[in-house]
Amino acid sequence: MITTVATKPIAGQKPGTSGLRKKTPVFMGRHYLENFTQAIFDVVGAAGKTFVLGGDGRYFNDRAAQVILRMAAANGAARVIVGQGAILSTPAASHLIRLNKTDGGIIMSASHNPGGPEEDFGVKFNMPNGGPAPESVTEAMFQRTTELTEYRIVEAQDVDLNTVGRQTLGGMIVDVVDPVSDYAALMETLFDFPALRALFAGGFRMRMDAMCAVTGPYAVEILENRLGAAKGTVTHETPLPDFGGMHPDPNPTWAHELMAEMMGDNAPDFGAASDGDGDRNMVVGRGIYVSPSDSLAVLAANAHLAPGYARGLAGVARSMPTSAAADRVADALGIAKFETPTGWKFFGNLLDAGKVTLCGEESFGTGSDHVREKDGLWAVLLWLNILAVRKQSVAQILSEHWAKYGRNYYSRHDFEAIATDKADAMITALRATLADLPGQVVEGMTITAADDFAYTDPVDGSVSARQGVRIIFADSSRIVMRLSGTGTEGATLRVYLERYAAGPDGLDLDPQEALAPVIRAAHGLARLTEFTGCTAPDVVT
Ligand code: G1P
Ligand code: ZN
Repeated sequence: MITTVATKPIAGQKPGTSGLRKKTPVFMGRHYLENFTQAIFDVVGAAGKTFVLGGDGRYFNDRAAQVILRMAAANGAARVIVGQGAILSTPAASHLIRLNKTDGGIIMSASHNPGGPEEDFGVKFNMPNGGPAPESVTEAMFQRTTELTEYRIVEAQDVDLNTVGRQTLGGMIVDVVDPVSDYAALMETLFDFPALRALFAGGFRMRMDAMCAVTGPYAVEILENRLGAAKGTVTHETPLPDFGGMHPDPNPTWAHELMAEMMGDNAPDFGAASDGDGDRNMVVGRGIYVSPSDSLAVLAANAHLAPGYARGLAGVARSMPTSAAADRVADALGIAKFETPTGWKFFGNLLDAGKVTLCGEESFGTGSDHVREKDGLWAVLLWLNILAVRKQSVAQILSEHWAKYGRNYYSRHDFEAIATDKADAMITALRATLADLPGQVVEGMTITAADDFAYTDPVDGSVSARQGVRIIFADSSRIVMRLSGTGTEGATLRVYLERYAAGPDGLDLDPQEALAPVIRAAHGLARLTEFTGCTAPDVVT
C-alpha cells in the first residue's frame, strides 16, 4: 500500500516566525505539502511514534489532513490523534500533545492571516513539550526540503474525520477526538468556574467575537454551556473555510465590529476576540481598549486571584518589542523577568525550566505554563476570573494599575506589502547608523542606546541574532523596528513605539498623542518615507 513518489526540492520552504506559511494555491501545488511533510518526518522521525494533528479549519485544512495522515502511516507512525473534522485550536493541540505524552504534533494554520482559495495556508510542527519547534529543528526541516528526492504515502480511502472514535490507516491507529473537551477540562482546573458562573448569573454581559475561526466551538462550550453566559454571547461562532471573509486578527482594525459595540451605547461589560487558530486574544472593556502589553501586565499583577496561579508566579517573560509594563509588575512582585525575541518558540525553554509562569507578546498573545502556545481563550478566562474577584470594571482595573505602576503608552504601526528590497534597504541603512546614535537628541529626547537585539537563551545557551533594531531614549521611550516573519506578500515593516509616564498626571492621554514625538523620531531616524514610499501605517494597534 505504500507508494514512494519521486519528487524534487521546491525552493522557499523555509519556516518563519511560526511555521511554513504560503498562499493556499502554493501549498496546494504539486508535491508542495508532501515535500514539506516528508521533511518534517525525516527530521523528527516517524517510525513507531504518536502525533497530534489538527488545524484551524481554513480552506484546504481537510484535504491537507488526509495527506498528512497517509504520509504519517507510510512513514511508520504508530498513532495519530486528530481533532474531529481535522479541527484543533493551536492551544488545544498543544494541550493534547502534552496530555497524551505524544512525540509532537502537526498544526495546520496560518494563524491570523485570512483563509480561502486565494488566501493563506500554513503547517507547523510542535515538539513533545507541546511548543513550536525551535529554530535548530525548523532549520533542519528547511535543509531537508532542499535535498529530498522522494516522499512516502499510503494509497487509501479518506479517513472518516467526522466521527469520534478509533480507526486504522494501514498499520496506523487514527483516534478522532472531540477538539474541545480535554481543553475545557484543563480550563476548569485553572479558573474558578463557580465564581464565573455566579458572575454571569449576576447579569454580567460579555461579547466574544470568534471571527468565524476556530475559537467558536471552544468559546460556546465554555462561556455559554459551562459558565452560563447568555446564548449568543459568542458571535461568528462557526468556523468557516474562508472565515466568512473576515480577517481573523483580533486587533482594533480587524475586529472593528466588536470595537464598535464596546465603544457604543449599552456596551457589554467585557469584550474579546480571537484569531484564526485561537492563540491570540484582544480584550476590551466597556468604552476602553486594553493594549496587549497592558493586558500582560494586569494579568501578571492579578493572576494569583485565579486558583491555577494562587501560589504566585515564578517569573514573567515578554518578547522584546512588547512594552516594559510587565517588567514593572515583575519588579514589584520580586520575581524574575525575561526579554525574548519575537515568536512564542522562544518562551518554551523558560517555561519548561520553570523559570516563568506567564508569557506575552504585544501581538495579542498571552499564555502560561499550562500549554506551550499562547492561548486566546485562556487569557479571556483569566480576565473574567480577575473581574469576578475584584468586582470592578476593566476601566477601574486599568486606571488603578497605571496609578500604581505608571503607564507605558504603546502602539505598533504596521506598513504592509512593501517591496522586499526597499524594506531591506531601509533596515540595512538604519543598522549602519546605530553605533552613532547614542548621545544624539531627537524630538527633544536623548538616545541612550541603539542596537540590533541579540538573545542568548538562558537555558540552552543558543544565540539568536538580528532580532530587531531598538533605539532607547533617556526617558525610557523606545523605538523598535523589525520585518515580519509571518507575511506571505512582500515585506511588512513593524514599528513598535513606547513612552513611559510615571504619573500621577498624564495617565489618560490618547496613546497616539502621547507617542507623537516618538512616532516622528522613528520616521526621521529610519528615513521611512524616503526608503519605502509609505507615509501612514496600514494597521495601528
Ligand atoms: C507575528 C507577531 C509575533 C507572533 C507571530 C505568530 O510575527 O509579531 O509576535 O509570535 O506573529 O503569531 P511577525 O509577523 O512579526 O514575524
Ligand atoms: Zn494565531
